[in-house]
Amino acid sequence: MILRGDRLILGTCYYPEHWTETMWRDDLKRMKDTGIEVVRIAEFAWNKIEPREGNFNYDFFDRFLDIAEEENMKVIMGTPTATPPAWLTEKYPEALNADKDGNLFYHGARRHYNYNSPVYQELSARIVEKMAEHYGKRPCIIGWQIDNEVNCENDEFYSESDHQAFRKFVQDKYGSLEALNEAWGTVFWNQTYTDWKEIHAPRKTCSDSTNPHEVLDYFRFVSYSARSFVKRQSDIIKKYKKQGDFITTNGLFGNLDSHRMNRESLDFITYDSYPNFAYCLDAYSDKPGNMKDRKWSRNLSMTRSISPVFGIMEQQSGANGWNTRMEAPTPRPGQITLWTMQSVAHGADYISYFRWRTCTVGTEIYWHGILDYSGRDNRRIREIREIHKKFEKMKKIAGSHYEAKVGMIKDYDNTWDSQLDVWHGRLEKQSQKAFFETAQLTHTPFDYVNLDETVTEDDLKGYKVLFYPHAAIMTQEQTELLKKYVENGGVLVLGCRNAYKNINGKCVMENLPGVLADFAGVDIPEYTAIAPDTEKVIVNWEGTEMEAAVFAEQLDTLDDTSQIVGTYGSDYYKGTGALTRKAVGKGEVYYYGSAYTADSVRVFLEKLDVIEPFGNLAEVPETCEIAMRTKNEEKYLFILNYEKTPASVKFLKPMKDLWTDNTLIGEVELEPYGVLVAEVL
Ligand code: GAL
Repeated sequence: MILRGDRLILGTCYYPEHWTETMWRDDLKRMKDTGIEVVRIAEFAWNKIEPREGNFNYDFFDRFLDIAEEENMKVIMGTPTATPPAWLTEKYPEALNADKDGNLFYHGARRHYNYNSPVYQELSARIVEKMAEHYGKRPCIIGWQIDNEVNCENDEFYSESDHQAFRKFVQDKYGSLEALNEAWGTVFWNQTYTDWKEIHAPRKTCSDSTNPHEVLDYFRFVSYSARSFVKRQSDIIKKYKKQGDFITTNGLFGNLDSHRMNRESLDFITYDSYPNFAYCLDAYSDKPGNMKDRKWSRNLSMTRSISPVFGIMEQQSGANGWNTRMEAPTPRPGQITLWTMQSVAHGADYISYFRWRTCTVGTEIYWHGILDYSGRDNRRIREIREIHKKFEKMKKIAGSHYEAKVGMIKDYDNTWDSQLDVWHGRLEKQSQKAFFETAQLTHTPFDYVNLDETVTEDDLKGYKVLFYPHAAIMTQEQTELLKKYVENGGVLVLGCRNAYKNINGKCVMENLPGVLADFAGVDIPEYTAIAPDTEKVIVNWEGTEMEAAVFAEQLDTLDDTSQIVGTYGSDYYKGTGALTRKAVGKGEVYYYGSAYTADSVRVFLEKLDVIEPFGNLAEVPETCEIAMRTKNEEKYLFILNYEKTPASVKFLKPMKDLWTDNTLIGEVELEPYGVLVAEVL
């Protein structure tokens, strides 16, 4: 029913267990009246089904589902494994997660469990099986959400079961201690292991520095543990669900290969979008700089790379806040619409608001939903009613795809390596931020491309330009694939510090850039982090200046198949190569010896002729985001104004405003937080 490519659909998150039963029917009727057709329920309600170990009772949700069916409300059923009950953790403390020092996280919050405890695996599989078996054929159910936000709040696990499972994971991976010692370079600082029982998940060490190759494997292990946990549930649900009902889970979190999880266990991923974090008053806010709520487009692009068809399971509809952290203002008039359309612009065809009513108890009493505590009609529900009308007017965009000719390659090994390695991390942070912000400000839509073993030439060939800034870890297979992409006419832009590590994160001894050297035609005899007392380092690329950042590799060409096209202008490396270009087949590979800055990204986009691809349709100020969704010959343009002031847009070609049916041409004013969705005529 949802995400079938035929309609845009609204939903909400509802917690029947938070309200008296007499409220249910009215709530559902009122949702329908608002245009909400789907509710997600039950994801924290284990006790309502198994209040005591082994005592199952399905009445509570049966009563709710009866009413849902009578009211023609569709339901996404959550499995409640993110919140194991008190009876469980009291009797089986081994099910609890622990911090690095081994201190258990006790009952009282959520996500306090670990994935590897045999007893938790058994009891969580059992509740899922019981639920799927009992509720699986209910007509109102359209899909299942596994757990809730896998790896949210905690993405590291140090319980005794995790130590044991990690030992088994590396034993299976390496087969022998010799191979493990070799892979982890344990000869350094006398870390050599002589018995498997000496192996633990990384523990607290003196000077807090742990073997980096071990930590890389540990992140892989956490991902594997989480994926296996999700897969076990998915396999169970598949046995009982109705044909056509989907399986998903929500959110994007650390130390988890969500792409692989999606392939193994889900029909599609859903994302939880809370752009109001941009306005948080406390230290929890991650200081989004100029991009503010616009920064959420980055996560939406990442979600799209996991499954091009996706929905939003939790979309902001009120102020955020926990009683223990986070304080944020209520969305201003227009912002719920803006954030909803931001999700839709990036490809979401299902939007479910978090949550219907604001909870009156517990940690999330300040995390406002559509309605406040009293449930009275308010500005936010009125705005959502309007969104529903807008969805009806624009329903034909369902099933269309986000249009991007530029790709940013990412991969989990490098993401995790950049988490544990501050040198790599600094580069990655700098380049990703510069790239995202510049792409946004120049109205250059892009996709993330996850480079894993399933990617083929076909997946890459639609991109005119691919950026891959700092692939510290690069394999021969990846190099071959990228080479094919370039030979077929693609343009690849590499940044500094590529291919200097092998798959275990150990530095290679070949001349840099290792496996890329021949392909890129580059030799790097010297490199340095840019010293703090170096003035601005400017790179001159055939007469155009751009600023380098963080690192300066001094590039030579390997032979005359490649040329130096840019040189550094500062410090002792003044005049040495900063950028090379090599023609390979029908395409080109660039090797840039530094990290990206806002102006270098702009120069690349301009020189490679991929900047502002919709500039011929409309002139749009920097403060607005632009996105295009296409379906066959149909083209839908989204313009989103993130500012509290109006924005002036100039349409250069006539378009049809899908909400008003007006023709847009020439100057059009977009109101504060205004959005335009227009069909290109
Ligand atoms: C999400 C989570 C919800 C709720 C919400 C507000 O991350 O999935 O269950 O907790 O945040 O905190």
